[in-house]
Amino acid sequence: MFYKLAQKVMFQMDPEVAHNIAIGSLKMTGNNPLNCFYSQNVKSTPVECMGLTFPNPVGLAAGLDKDGESIDAFYAMGFGHIEVGTVTPRPQPGNDQPRLFRLKPAKGIINRMGFNNKGVDNLVRNLMAKKSDIMVGVNIGKNKDTPVEQGKDDYLICMDKVYQHSAYIAVNISSPNTPGLRTMQYGELLDDLLNSIKVKQSELAQKHGKYVPVALKIAPDLTLEEIQSIAESLKKNNFDAVIATNTTLSRDNVQGLDNAEETGGLSGKPLTELSTKVIKQLAECIDGAIPIIGVGGINSAKDAQDKLDAGATMLQIYSGFIYQGPQLVKEIVDQCDFK
Ligand code: FNR
Repeated sequence: MFYKLAQKVMFQMDPEVAHNIAIGSLKMTGNNPLNCFYSQNVKSTPVECMGLTFPNPVGLAAGLDKDGESIDAFYAMGFGHIEVGTVTPRPQPGNDQPRLFRLKPAKGIINRMGFNNKGVDNLVRNLMAKKSDIMVGVNIGKNKDTPVEQGKDDYLICMDKVYQHSAYIAVNISSPNTPGLRTMQYGELLDDLLNSIKVKQSELAQKHGKYVPVALKIAPDLTLEEIQSIAESLKKNNFDAVIATNTTLSRDNVQGLDNAEETGGLSGKPLTELSTKVIKQLAECIDGAIPIIGVGGINSAKDAQDKLDAGATMLQIYSGFIYQGPQLVKEIVDQCDFK
């Protein structure tokens, strides 16, 4: 009820202004009685994933709280985990505004934010300051001005800094808004990146006496052959999980709508089927060896169930949360069949 009212007001504003006001308000209220406007009890539905036990299978996807400013507010909403980031070694402004667009009739969003974030050191401070014990995954990326060939170094720098403050680390090579980034999803660049991350992980596990799982986040715009090749690389390198999917470059389901021609990644309802298809193909290639975290266009318990049936162990939402509010977390947990 409160969310519907807040959404009415927010949807009158420019999307990025609304986003910043929302994150600011959540930051101010996350730890005090004012969180009663959005806090809810979500029934305990523990799920095992990556060797960790999550209180329920529904997480907040990366990109909404990039700098980890409002973590405790998302805990109050009942999320089973939150993925903060994408964070880069150095702060960067991202692309020029406007860079965030609603496609309301389709319940979609197009963004070309370009990893705007305040840098990894700032994120670590926020992780240390959070009060709740919500499971926090940290999604890491490379700075725009780091050449792709040296991109690996940026991931390793971020890993070093966030390792002891994360439940898991997500390696993002699938954003369409950092030039060249998606080329890291293929062939030797991918194999070398995954191998280096695993080597770093074992160094850090020794140093901190704690094993923090690593997950790879992939795009939905991949052929079956490309998915097969990524799956082989994930298995070969013993990756702990794969997050599927990021936003799509396709505009198949939004032709003719306002903002449909904007450059960037499309998320929300128009992405639902494509991302479920990728999860299904991935699940067939991986054959249970690595858990899949399903994300992309989950707008209802039915969409969530389809992702689970396709092979996902855990789920994340972003656009569905914008269009439906925190209630969607509860609806999914109450209505889905988690094996
Ligand atoms: C995103 N997403 C995203 N993903 C990521 O790995 N790092 C990021 O920084 C961002 N940033 C971001 C900003 C905005 C405005 C949106 C809408 C999305 C992608 C997101 O985590 C998710 O993978 C997709 O949006 C698909 O899920 P939904 O939105 O359809 O539930």
